[in-house]
Amino acid sequence: MEAIYLIGFMGAGKTSVSQELAIKLEIPVYDTDREIVKLSGKTINEIFAIDGEEKFRDLESEVLHSMPLGNAVVSTGGGIIGSKKNRLFLNEKMNVVFLNANFSTIMERLKDDDTRPLLSQYNVEAAEKLYNLRLPLYREAANIEVGASGKSVSTIVDEIIQRM
Ligand code: S3P
Repeated sequence: MEAIYLIGFMGAGKTSVSQELAIKLEIPVYDTDREIVKLSGKTINEIFAIDGEEKFRDLESEVLHSMPLGNAVVSTGGGIIGSKKNRLFLNEKMNVVFLNANFSTIMERLKDDDTRPLLSQYNVEAAEKLYNLRLPLYREAANIEVGASGKSVSTIVDEIIQRM
C-alpha cells in the first residue's frame, strides 16, 4: 500500500488521527515535525527562532522527500503545502488526505498552545488570513478531503479507510 499522507492546518487533528489510523492499519506512523527535530537536534521553536522559517521549510521538504513511500502513515506540518515542489510531490501520491477543520475549531484547540511559532507571531486575523490562503493549496495537493470538525478521531479514521 502506498503511504498515507495527512495534511491540513495546525490543530486539524493530524497527529491524533495519524496515530489511530496507523494502529488500525498496523503500519508505522511518521511525523515530519518529529523527524525535523531528530535531524536538527533542535525544537521547532528553536529552529524558527535561531535559523529562521526558511531553514525550517528546507528541512521540512527534505524530510517529506525522505519518508517511506509505502506501508506508513505520514503526518505533515501545516505549512508543508507552501512549497510548489511539495504540492507536486503529494499530488502524485494516491492517498493524500486533507483534514479540513473549521477555523473556529482550530482556534479553540490552539488557544493555549505555545509550541507553534507561527501562531505566536500572528493575531487571530492574520491566522485566519493564512488559513484561507492555504485552503486551496491543501485541496491542490490532496485527493481525499475529510471534514474534521465535530467528529471523533475514530469516526475520521473510519472515513479515511472507507474512502481510500
Ligand atoms: C506549521 C505547522 C506546525 C509546524 C510549524 C509550522 C505551519 O505543524 O510544522 O510550527 O506553518 O502551519 P502542525 O501542523 O503539526 O502544527
